[in-house]
Amino acid sequence: MSRLEAVREAVDTILHRVASEEERRCSFVHLYGVSAIAALLASLRGQNEELAATAGILHDLATYESGDSTDHAARSARRAVEILRGVGGYDEQEIGQIASAIEHHSEKSAEHGPFEELLKDADVLQHDLYHARALVRSASMTRRGMLCRDLEGLLPADVERGARHAADWVQEFYSRQAEWTGIYEGELDAFHYERAMWVDAVLGGRTGCVLELGCGGGQTAAALADRGHHVVAVDLNPRLIEHARSLAAAREDGRMTALAGDFYKIELNETFDAVCYFDGFGVGSDADQRWLLARIAQWLRPEGAALVDVYTPWYWANAHDQEMEWKDACRRHAFDGDECRMLDTWWPRGKPDEAVTQSLRCYSPADLRLLLRGTGLVLADVLPGGAVDLETGEYCNQVPLDQAMSYLATLRPDSNSG
Ligand SMILES: C[S@@+](CC[C@H](N)C(=O)[O-])C[C@H]1O[C@@H](n2cnc3c(N)ncnc32)[C@H](O)[C@@H]1O
Repeated sequence: MSRLEAVREAVDTILHRVASEEERRCSFVHLYGVSAIAALLASLRGQNEELAATAGILHDLATYESGDSTDHAARSARRAVEILRGVGGYDEQEIGQIASAIEHHSEKSAEHGPFEELLKDADVLQHDLYHARALVRSASMTRRGMLCRDLEGLLPADVERGARHAADWVQEFYSRQAEWTGIYEGELDAFHYERAMWVDAVLGGRTGCVLELGCGGGQTAAALADRGHHVVAVDLNPRLIEHARSLAAAREDGRMTALAGDFYKIELNETFDAVCYFDGFGVGSDADQRWLLARIAQWLRPEGAALVDVYTPWYWANAHDQEMEWKDACRRHAFDGDECRMLDTWWPRGKPDEAVTQSLRCYSPADLRLLLRGTGLVLADVLPGGAVDLETGEYCNQVPLDQAMSYLATLRPDSNSG
């Protein structure tokens, strides 16, 4: 028997002696509840789960044992020391740590050490969960606010559902950019076939069913269809989807389908071997991105993978205030350091008053791992992309990650999510 099981056995013996049936039920619910939540918080915060579970199961013991809650934290701490010494296997430093957390657990508005705070949080959360209101974000209570932030990464993204939809600027920006540069309505070039080969690689050389989100004018989707995949391509912009449809019509029947729709909302009744989103991830808020990632997890088959281009913060922070011309358009970069977003303003040459701006959230791979928590996806691989040399204006199509404008993230279904 483990030492934690031995503590549980000692606690159970005490609780079985509680005379009132209702009080006995409450004692088990609360002590076991706090114990489990303490272990969960400990694992989130990098603390010792077993010590946290032990503190949780002992923290109110004196109240239940005596039926008297006077000075119960200090009394429960003393009782915990007796039990832990009696059970054996805990050293004095561990016993002291557990006793201190129990002794302070009622002082919810004071701040103690991380282990003491953990037990207080577990106590608060068990209470909220018992009353089925753990996710109510009570702005007035810092402790609950902190807890919600802690738990955010664990929660499946559907708890953040809300009404996700494309930001107002999206339609206008990509229409104007397409009009001034023609980039999304041109022919297929080597670059589109290179993307298709990344998909081939992630599928281990097999052909499969591929979903392309934010497909623009559909050139990458067409390249994928040319390589034998069955492709569903989705974009919000009707003008660009029109172009994608013309590419689909020129391909083998049924190989490529282009759908006009918002990827936050579109209903697709299929699953896919690969889901790609080339150039454009970060268009929404973090919650929007998490919502989309959770949808991608739903669309993916168990052995599937998602390929997503992600903008890096470092390149765009360096490129702040850079101006350049491209075809008939002018472009200026800026960076919002507080929100970690690249701001990319375009206007037709000589007409700065017609400027439109795209705003994309930038994520390092470490940031992306945090963003992915609870979405059902994990970051499996990072392939650095290219960069424009800000001195010479020359583009190099592959540079080290810490210089790259973006990287291609391979995301896989999280085998630990249910
Ligand atoms: C930077 S463009 C990239 C287009 C294409 N992937 C490419 O690389 O040529 C981003 C695209 O994402 C699309 N997009 C943005 N938000 C979207 C949404 N909520 N639903 C569907 N498409 C969206 C835009 O309309 C735009 O065509």
